[in-house]
Amino acid sequence: MEEKLLKIKNDLMEALKGALKEADVLNIKSEYVGKKSEIQNILTSLKDMNVEDKRKYGSLINNTKKEMEELVNKKLEDLENKIDINFDDTTNYEVKNGSLHPVTIVAKEVTDILKRMGFTIVSGPEMESEYYNFEALNIPKDHPARDMQDTYYLDNGMLLRTQTSAEQVHAMEKYGAPLRICAPGRTFRNEDVDASHENTFFQLEGMVIDKDISIENLMYVMKCVLKEVFHKDVDVRLRPGFFPFTEPSYELDCSCLICGGKGCPTCKNSGWIELIPGGMVHPNVLKAGGIDPEKYSGFAFGIGLTRLAMMKYKINDIRVLNSGDVRYLEKFDIK
Ligand code: DAH
Repeated sequence: MEEKLLKIKNDLMEALKGALKEADVLNIKSEYVGKKSEIQNILTSLKDMNVEDKRKYGSLINNTKKEMEELVNKKLEDLENKIDINFDDTTNYEVKNGSLHPVTIVAKEVTDILKRMGFTIVSGPEMESEYYNFEALNIPKDHPARDMQDTYYLDNGMLLRTQTSAEQVHAMEKYGAPLRICAPGRTFRNEDVDASHENTFFQLEGMVIDKDISIENLMYVMKCVLKEVFHKDVDVRLRPGFFPFTEPSYELDCSCLICGGKGCPTCKNSGWIELIPGGMVHPNVLKAGGIDPEKYSGFAFGIGLTRLAMMKYKINDIRVLNSGDVRYLEKFDIK
């Protein structure tokens, strides 16, 4: 009997040696000390033994089972202590450098060139009042232009700004004339999201106010900006446009760089992408900013930074940009 018990115990020790995972140990536990294990059978048979054997082997059998259970528990404990929660072993992990978001890259390129031209970079609140977002820009409450810029109206009476144009009057109030500012930032609209529409996107507002400013100045600035971003001259066209805060207003389109002007879903099959609307600042807007329209004139433009990034990097689905999908975004890594 002694030998038999010793062998069972040794077999268990041998089995435990080869176990690397908790699940292995649990299987061994059930096989060697479970209800149908050999030691359990021996223990059960104790009651049928004669008094002498009972006395002789009783405690030995019980102790052996106890020792075997202890061996199993010890092994489980050892495995638990082996789990490394510090993650300081990086051999299995590839350490990657972060990268700039495509919109950040184009925002930097545009602001870099504008800075060189004497523009000050300003930033305003994303939660804005109706006054700065609409009314001060010559868009009163019942103006149809508000329909195209439906947004999120907040319980506190404010709204999420629909355009960085909201910075125009803030800037005039703060700096007066003459001024040159650009305001990059996030803007929001109540949009049905698809490949070319997002409810959250980025714009950059530009504004110059001085004496004798004309549309020629605006054209020059636009051409410099596009050349800087695309590193080449891109085809552009100018169309008359309408914005309540500029008069005259126009739209500057660039040839769709995704399809080369042939027509695709991104350019709505027109071959052109509406890129930079702008115009001469409306006298009412100058007045709202406390500037005398008799003395000063100015131009303003709004660059769709999100759209510009899509053109530059040939991204055909706007949703990628807000997706946070690093596998896609890291492709734009610049060193
Ligand atoms: N804020 C306009 C928009 O989001 C774009 C715009 C048009 C800005 C004309 C301007 C401008 O500064 O002069 O649709």
